Amino acid sequence: MKRNILITGGAGFIGSHVVCLLVNKYPDYHIINLDKLTYAGNLANLKDIEAKPNYTFVKADICDFENIQNLFSKYAIDGVIHLAAESHVDRSIKDPFAFAQTNVMGTLSLLQAAKLAWQNDFNTKLFYHISTDEVYGSLGNEGFFVETTPYDPHSPYSASKASSDHFVRAFHDTYGLPTLISNCSNNYGPYQFPEKLIPLFINNICNNKALPVYGKGQNVRDWLYVIDHARAIDTIFHNGKIGDTYNIGGFNEWKNIDLIKIMIKVTDRLLGRKEGESEKLITYVTDRAGHDLRYAIDSSKLKNELGWEPSLQFEEGIEKTIRWYLDNQNWLDNVTSGAYQEYYNNMYNNC
Ligand code: NAD
Ligand code: DAU
Repeated sequence: MKRNILITGGAGFIGSHVVCLLVNKYPDYHIINLDKLTYAGNLANLKDIEAKPNYTFVKADICDFENIQNLFSKYAIDGVIHLAAESHVDRSIKDPFAFAQTNVMGTLSLLQAAKLAWQNDFNTKLFYHISTDEVYGSLGNEGFFVETTPYDPHSPYSASKASSDHFVRAFHDTYGLPTLISNCSNNYGPYQFPEKLIPLFINNICNNKALPVYGKGQNVRDWLYVIDHARAIDTIFHNGKIGDTYNIGGFNEWKNIDLIKIMIKVTDRLLGRKEGESEKLITYVTDRAGHDLRYAIDSSKLKNELGWEPSLQFEEGIEKTIRWYLDNQNWLDNVTSGAYQEYYNNMYNNC
């Protein structure tokens, strides 16, 4: 079936993997990638598919409601996969307004444009919103987030994502807009901006720079390889039950300090250093404000109802990821020049 699918945030980390997967897998679909190209957006992530006939890039801001309305009509959009967001918790602590603007108002602008464009016939239309496990708050040492866990966000980032999820459900319940939501755990893999733990630490190990561990490094995150997230998004977009929510995760919890030691071991080995030598770079710094202790996703619903499972074991995924960053030093150099240095000094000036 011919479809015109709008993917927002397709020049970012996860979005670019979703765009590449869908452009290659569905030659009959026209994939329209809408991205503002903030510091986190990078067209170099899309070089493998940029010349494909079923792909179009549009530089636009999701908050620009008039322009979004025009694009819905120009491209006869019948499906949306919405990933565009401000995505970094530390930045949200410094500038919460930007997060409310893009994540809440931007999502509302897309929902309203979809509702108006589709209101005469919601059949065959779909608005799929990509969210995060952080909306559920923080776990103690036991238990998992399930789809019915009450929302309890703690950072401005997670509060803005929680708010956008509520708007999506409100548009489903109030106007009958066909919607889906998924909430995923921490992703890792190629093309992640090096403000996030894994690429930042790989880059710093390579450059013999301090590794700033927040607090005592005891916080736990549940890591999923980004291509498995993209596969889950494909599965949910095509087979999810309208109005439903799906949790996505790989049952792969790591205490930060243990994960960091594995990264050090693998990176040292690949760089030809003595394994573990770079542990001397570990520097404990002031904890992140409101730092959630533990995330752990129960993705049984997605497995039982739609048959999705992660394809990669963590040991394989992390080695593949580290190799990718070492082999793509140009990509890293490009994104760590200019404004990145200013961000880094401002964020980590005491280490
Ligand atoms: P990212 O920061 O790498 O990319 C975000 C993209 O959105 C960038 O290309 C940026 O240019 C674009 N963008 C930002 N503001 C925009 C605006 N106003 N208009 C249009 N485009 C705009 O983010 P990511 O890590 O790829 O996350 C993508 C989505 O997945 C987000 O919604 C995030 O909340 C969610 N998510 C991320 C993770 C993770 O571990 N990274 C996990 C679960 C869910
Ligand atoms: O859980 C899903 C979320 O995962 C996504 O919704 C977010 O968009 C994504 O950024 C990610 O949020 P986290 O805050 O968990 O990811 P981050 O990589 O920033 O941090 C991971 C852990 O590492 C967290 O406990 C904080 C810690 N950390 C992070 C940085 C950047 C450090 O100890 N030092 C650091 O310098």
